[in-house]
Amino acid sequence: MNNLTQGGQVFFQNMRMFADIFWKLMTVFFMAFCLSMALIFYFKTGSYERYEAFVLLATGPFSALSHWVGSFLNHMGLVSHSDLADQTFMNFKMPDGSQVRLSQSEVIDRITQPDFIENMAWLLKLDFVISLLVGIMASLVTGKLLSQFGFAMTEKKVLRGTRLCEPQELRNLVKKKDDKSPSPFSLSKVPLPKNSETQHIWINGTTGSGKTVAMSELMAQVRTQGHRAIVYDIMGTFVGRFYRPGKDIILNPFDERSAAWNLWSECQRSEDYDNIASSQIPIVPGVSSQDPFWVKAARSLYSATARRLEKRGKADTETFLRYLLTSDLEKLRELLKDTEAESLVAKDLEKTALSVKATLTDYIKVMRFLKNDGDPFSIRDWVKKEDEDSWIFISSRADCHEILTPLISAWYDIAITSALSLSSNPDRRIFNFIDELPTLQYLPSLHKGMAQGRQKGLCFVLGTQDLSQLKVNYGHDNAKSIIGNANTKLILRTIDDAEATSAMFNQSEVQDQNQSVSYGIKDSRDGVSLNKQRHLQQVVLPSELQLLDDLEGYLKFPGNFPVTKIKLDYVSYPELNERLVPRVSDVDLLDDIENESDSDSKIWNGGSSSDFSEPITL
Ligand SMILES: Nc1ncnc2c1ncn2[C@@H]1O[C@H](COP(=O)(O)OP(=O)(O)O)[C@@H](O)[C@H]1O
Ligand SMILES: [Mg+2]
Repeated sequence: MNNLTQGGQVFFQNMRMFADIFWKLMTVFFMAFCLSMALIFYFKTGSYERYEAFVLLATGPFSALSHWVGSFLNHMGLVSHSDLADQTFMNFKMPDGSQVRLSQSEVIDRITQPDFIENMAWLLKLDFVISLLVGIMASLVTGKLLSQFGFAMTEKKVLRGTRLCEPQELRNLVKKKDDKSPSPFSLSKVPLPKNSETQHIWINGTTGSGKTVAMSELMAQVRTQGHRAIVYDIMGTFVGRFYRPGKDIILNPFDERSAAWNLWSECQRSEDYDNIASSQIPIVPGVSSQDPFWVKAARSLYSATARRLEKRGKADTETFLRYLLTSDLEKLRELLKDTEAESLVAKDLEKTALSVKATLTDYIKVMRFLKNDGDPFSIRDWVKKEDEDSWIFISSRADCHEILTPLISAWYDIAITSALSLSSNPDRRIFNFIDELPTLQYLPSLHKGMAQGRQKGLCFVLGTQDLSQLKVNYGHDNAKSIIGNANTKLILRTIDDAEATSAMFNQSEVQDQNQSVSYGIKDSRDGVSLNKQRHLQQVVLPSELQLLDDLEGYLKFPGNFPVTKIKLDYVSYPELNERLVPRVSDVDLLDDIENESDSDSKIWNGGSSSDFSEPITL
């Protein structure tokens, strides 16, 4: 009942208001019609024609009426003359300007010549049709203007803060800024603002939302531009699409195509060993479950052993692992004599030493699978080669990924720290594509690389599924800071953490219009009132992020650019390479050693065989 009353009142009130506007539009139509008729008639006729038409208009109806009345009276026998019009005289202007006195019947006969009537009829018909169109146009235009005015009144106005716009508008805004030279890189055909790639890009979205599609789009552009890149590729997708055999480098102990690598080829200074140890054996800030003592002790053991081996001319991974993974403590003690790690393997602290070794084992056991033949590849040297356009693919193998992560982190950290030591160069670009960042362990230099890498041309493109994953690896504050440093944000469908993610698009102060409708028994009580209100609102709501389709996302650039919603194009890249060429039986350095009948000569290549005389077992 209540609904019926409310619906009915509001409906009829709306109808009344619409009718009112409708009649106003009809008035506009009528006025435009009349004005048009008059103007067309005026401009399409000569002054004598207008005079004749005026006389015809003035006398014609009277003449017809008097003719009809006269005939009637005559018929009744009341008057004898045939027509009143014959007896009504007027001064009529002739074409030459002279005046003659004629009866109305004569005037009408004179004017209503076939030519004149035909011309007038044609003109009036044309005038009518054109004026009808003019009237309709006038009322339509007025209606359109009124509805635009209404729309502008009710439209939300962004007073401050960011706003949402169409991709085309953002495209134009970016193209106009910075001397009309945006970055050569783009996402879904929207160019990035000039140099904004060095302010890093974050792509977030759940599985299947399009992170890899977006990364591939950027990678193809980086390849076209001839820049270097380091690609972390957990699934091998990017190796399949972008690897160029003979030119690019794969680092993955489980891939036959991988380059050989050892840690000494990366270390020039004593502290380099400590840096590699810290990335391979990280302490995650804000994660209290980790006891820093064991981690620090393991690092110390790692770097001291590496340093000492280098000093003794035995810098190779086999020997390194043999000491740390398989030898008894006596040998290690002897090796580390007079180093900072000596106390960690002291005779009276054997239990501690074994615990430290056990901690270290977790982080270095993967090194036994490293390729150890030929010239080792040096990430540090590669970073320094300015004229290179090769890429490094740091790939993985799903079933061994966990043991591989310390090594991958070490490689990434070496790359970042090496790049940070380069001289500044505004034109250099070294891209770091890290899809599924949280599948890597904590990268100590990531934050530093993002914050300080701009001058060096470091560009990070990070892919994550949600923020909480990142917080687990990096701690709350670090994760926030990493995301904060990625100034370009592409947020695809985000299910978890949608609230926190949508907050990154900032708020805006908007002004919108509230409409309230009142009604009463009498129509005079009915009314609509409009009032304007200001309030803060989220530019992108969490639910909007959750409901995005595959490949749809919100794009935010650094600076005062509005946010836009884009749809990525799926590009089917040809699979040029195998994603992974498994290394024959996963060659294990320590197995090799075990199988050697004369192990000493192989292990202590160049060293004194008395260093290690007992056979070793794993
Ligand atoms: N062959 C295909 N043709 C068209 N679209 C595809 C094809 N393969 C995948 N896609 C689209 O790409 C999306 C996967 O994108 P992807 O970048 O791999 O997601 P993720 O965010 O997990 O990296 C799918 O959800 C689908 O919409
Ligand atoms: Mg993916």
